[in-house]
Amino acid sequence: MKFFIDTANLKEIQEAHDLGVLDGVTTNPSLMAKEGISGHDNVMAHYKAICEIVDGDISAEVIAVDYEGIIREGEALAELHNNIVVKVPMIKDGVKAIKYFSDKGIRTNCTLIFSAGQALLAAKAGATYVSPFVGRLDDVGTDGLQLIQQIVQIYDNYGFQTEVLAASVRHVMHLLQCAEIGADVVTCPLNVITSLLNHPLTDSGLAKFLADHKKVNI
Ligand code: E4P
Repeated sequence: MKFFIDTANLKEIQEAHDLGVLDGVTTNPSLMAKEGISGHDNVMAHYKAICEIVDGDISAEVIAVDYEGIIREGEALAELHNNIVVKVPMIKDGVKAIKYFSDKGIRTNCTLIFSAGQALLAAKAGATYVSPFVGRLDDVGTDGLQLIQQIVQIYDNYGFQTEVLAASVRHVMHLLQCAEIGADVVTCPLNVITSLLNHPLTDSGLAKFLADHKKVNI
């Protein structure tokens, strides 16, 4: 299973990278805005800076919602770096653009997936990744993990190469259940990744080992 970090914060990206377990990064316009990044040149420079930290897939999202605009923005993003994956929303023009990008060898991440039908369509169009939003479905009282299960099953049935990138993963249980189901990738904030480190028995066990060592090594 691949671990992506879901942020545009360079410090957090660096920290996750330094842990040695990071496979990629996902961003979205809200995450970029949260870091105060605005204006075409600054946005492009920020994506480049992310690519310099992480040698893995970096999702950069288009803002356009019309076919020509998505193509224009997506091609410019893809030219920035080989590791850029163009993130395209699940809308009609987005699906058409994914097909275009796929034919041209430009990799895509189809975002804002909330149903198995949308995931099937994105895979048919040749998306490299689909991003079903687990947490946002849970927020509205629908089982987000069930959607991951459904998509994994459908892709397995037909041998689709599209990878299931579980997004909007908010806590450790989401992450572990995605792993049990067999999602190819999870993307989540840094604290979800670092939470995997923690167990009180590890802390107390280590404290006892060190105390016992000290008793005979004074
Ligand atoms: C996916 O790529 C999105 O950036 C993200 O996972 C959304 O997460 P949220 O629902 O916690 O904002």
